[in-house]
Amino acid sequence: MEMEKLVALCKRRGFLFQSSEIYGGLNGFWDYGPLGVELKRNIKEAWWRDMVIGHDDLSTPVGAPGSYEMTGLDCTIIMHPQVWKCSGHYDLFQDSMVECRESKRRYRYDQVRGRWVEAKQERIFVTTLAEADHEEEDTTTRALRYFKLRSKQTDQLNWAENFETLPEVDDLSRVLGPDAKTLGTLGEPRNFNLMFETIVGALGGEKDKAFLRPETAQGIFVNFKNVCDSTRVKVPFGIAQIGKSFRNEITPRNFTFRSREFEQMEIEFFCHPDASPDWYQYWRDRRMKWYEDLGLSSERLRLREHDADELSHYSTGTADIEYAFPFLPEGEFGELEGIAHRGDFDLRSHMEGKLDETTNPLQIELGADGQPKWRGSGKDLTYFDADSFDQVKEDLGLRSFKQYVAGRSEQANPGYPFQFIPHVIEPSAGADRAALAFLCEAYDEDKQPDEKGKMQTRTVMRFHPRVAPIKCAVLPLVRKDGMPEIARDIYRAIKPQFPVFYDEKGAIGRRYRRQDEVGTPFCITVDGDTLKDKTVTIRHRDTLEQSRINIDDCVDDIRKHLE
Ligand code: GAP
Repeated sequence: MEMEKLVALCKRRGFLFQSSEIYGGLNGFWDYGPLGVELKRNIKEAWWRDMVIGHDDLSTPVGAPGSYEMTGLDCTIIMHPQVWKCSGHYDLFQDSMVECRESKRRYRYDQVRGRWVEAKQERIFVTTLAEADHEEEDTTTRALRYFKLRSKQTDQLNWAENFETLPEVDDLSRVLGPDAKTLGTLGEPRNFNLMFETIVGALGGEKDKAFLRPETAQGIFVNFKNVCDSTRVKVPFGIAQIGKSFRNEITPRNFTFRSREFEQMEIEFFCHPDASPDWYQYWRDRRMKWYEDLGLSSERLRLREHDADELSHYSTGTADIEYAFPFLPEGEFGELEGIAHRGDFDLRSHMEGKLDETTNPLQIELGADGQPKWRGSGKDLTYFDADSFDQVKEDLGLRSFKQYVAGRSEQANPGYPFQFIPHVIEPSAGADRAALAFLCEAYDEDKQPDEKGKMQTRTVMRFHPRVAPIKCAVLPLVRKDGMPEIARDIYRAIKPQFPVFYDEKGAIGRRYRRQDEVGTPFCITVDGDTLKDKTVTIRHRDTLEQSRINIDDCVDDIRKHLE
């Protein structure tokens, strides 16, 4: 699939627009149009339903170590600045970037690609920001311009075989920057924090500086105790949140894939440390299956376990669910979701002070004065599993937990295994990345006969009915003989149940095509037979199969595809 075609369709049919487009747009920001908003809402609602409200707390799901509870939160985007100091984002959430003296632009160091070329006894590295299928063309044009050659002289360019990224190039003075005309204009790589800053209140001093959250996860960690105290949830349980996150990405690119404002769908799943490896396996597989069930194809979707040397020492596993987005070079995949075993790193950092990830066992990171570099909240974020203790209390001959702890006072963790800081499994998904993957997956072209029987190319978005923006269209065959009246009644009966579209304008074939192009899975047509026997045809977008059903069965027939 050519990405340009999808991008054009998204604009033409109202899925996605560039933000502030009439003013020339703002790089890295995207608006969802009338159909896009429905698609994204459907994805978020499917996630919330499948992960949170539809979850059965009483049964053990397939593959899970046991039953568990799920609950949700909706936290603020701006939080106390100390949150980001203790989470590590203040010190460590940065990308390496290079700045171009000529274009004054900044580029992400690891994302600038290019290739070596030799001509006129000079060897240079020509960079490009073009998408994979245009890299060769773009570097050729730029090299010709640099060496002052004409297009018919391309054979004078001697290219190295492969593309490389900037970190693989030793000598930046030989590099032609992505927007530069002269050589060696890229400076040495520097670290750049990705958090957007803002000011809270009118005074505007340094102490009023706050940040737009770069992830929703921290809102969950800092509310862990509130949730435990205000509900009856017991470990193991998960807290889910959907919301906006902001990252000042250096080079936003590939349509919405790397945006500066985007939405995340995150779960922090709190469990006993001993059970956490099993819960990690469960969530990894559960999340992969979610995408498969919603129609992402198995060849383009993969689960990639991080190698042991990529993991933090306190984590027993991290996996990425990845999709082969069409704008990536052949064989490359882009991250849709990460599932991480985070141990007790986050809760402990918010309790004791920011931990130093490089220490083993984890220690609080100290500043130059020997004091904690970033102080934690000092709040007790341990969890006491009263039920498990009560089950064994009598066998242990104890009256109280206090007695249990007193008897183990020489241990580092005397309340264990009944009192502990929960370990966390974090399935962290991007709603916009998921929307982009569903759009890429859905796009298809086939050949179908038009009204005159001539074969024409049909563009069809093969969305799963659950994520399709419009579930069904109601179409009177002709605008007479009482057909529009019946069709409008059907439309009104369906409308309160799910998104439906009424269309009576144009030839029926053309109306079907319009619905195919936005991925409407079903079309209901009112025709001559409807007037006689109260039946309608229902046309299936993918198979083009048409069957007759009773008018009264329309809602139920479509609903069964939306479960
Ligand atoms: N709390 C963990 C966390 O935020 P992450 O891998 O940085 O982990 C999780 O982000 C997910 O958020 C990614 O898998 C991706 O789907 C989405 N995401 C991250 N940065 C993004 C960006 N700049 N634009 C769109 N989606 C993004």
